[in-house]
Amino acid sequence: MREKNMIEKLKELEASFTALLEETDTEAKLADLKARFLGKKGELSGILKSLGQASPEERKTLGQAANELKGRLSASIEEARAGIERKVIDAKLAADWTDITLLGSRRTKSVRESGLHPVSIVQRELEDIFLSMGFDILDGPHIEDDFHNFTALNIPDTHPARDMQDTFWFKDMKHLLRTHTSTIQIRGMEEKKHPPFKFVAPGKVFRCEATDASHEAVFHQMEGMLIGKDITVANLIYFEKTLLSEIFKRDVEIRLRPGFFPFVEPGFELDIQCLICGGKGCKVCKNTGWVELLPCGMTHPNVLRHGGIDPEEYNGFAFGLGLDRLVMMRYGINDIRLLHSGSIDFSRQFAAC
Ligand code: PHE
Repeated sequence: MREKNMIEKLKELEASFTALLEETDTEAKLADLKARFLGKKGELSGILKSLGQASPEERKTLGQAANELKGRLSASIEEARAGIERKVIDAKLAADWTDITLLGSRRTKSVRESGLHPVSIVQRELEDIFLSMGFDILDGPHIEDDFHNFTALNIPDTHPARDMQDTFWFKDMKHLLRTHTSTIQIRGMEEKKHPPFKFVAPGKVFRCEATDASHEAVFHQMEGMLIGKDITVANLIYFEKTLLSEIFKRDVEIRLRPGFFPFVEPGFELDIQCLICGGKGCKVCKNTGWVELLPCGMTHPNVLRHGGIDPEEYNGFAFGLGLDRLVMMRYGINDIRLLHSGSIDFSRQFAAC
């Protein structure tokens, strides 16, 4: 009779546990439920304690039944806990859901916009102009050998013209950081082989010189070369005028002065009439009315020979645009060192240009 009573009690206990578990929807409520049924002072412990008075036979059957019930209740609690955790995660995911396939909206002003470096902006613009004029765009190594940087450009080993460019030599004294993009004149001829051809080569150049507002150890040039038959200085002048009108988007007056570069003969310094004062004289042109912009000249026969081109049959011209100078004129930048300063405030002004 006593045994029957106890079995009944266990059944009732399981029934009320099951009913309560159904309403349990948070971890806190689940912990309460666990304490109430399985805790040290819980209902099941109470029943187990009362077994002390039972006969050994009863103790065995009732004890087994109570332990089995304990196992079932524990399993149900764990199952419910997993269910509650899943629901919490699902709710979070539903709340934080982002459709990454949607098209982006324009960023608000408070978010920093990224953009190209001003040298890259101007370089790309120039590349477009040259491409439209039928030029190829070539690239070349920053680490050069003596031959391409000097010897092939008609600057032999002992020639004083080597001192015109302060050079970063490597320890072997055979390699250097290129001092100008004129190296690509030679590499371009080696690659193209058969005139007529024309190409430009933009890139970084390096000179071991003291820096100031208009000098930097690393700067940018864009080399140009055109080789064909019966090319004259008149062709060079017409070409440069067209190029500069494209760059500045208006007609520009130019003048040529003699300039010495061992790889061109004759060689020129090409000046443009100052765009700020229109030639009247101002601070930018140091009151001369002219701004020095573009060294150039007719390619020296020795250079053609070093590039594998027969100077009896072909000739042409070359020029070296100072990219940083153009960038500074375009944007009114008064110190070349800003270009490589890495300053966020400086770079930000060109965002989304
Ligand atoms: N390489 C020369 C320099 O860096 C510029 C130049 C290029 C001059 C092409 C003439 C022709 O100073």
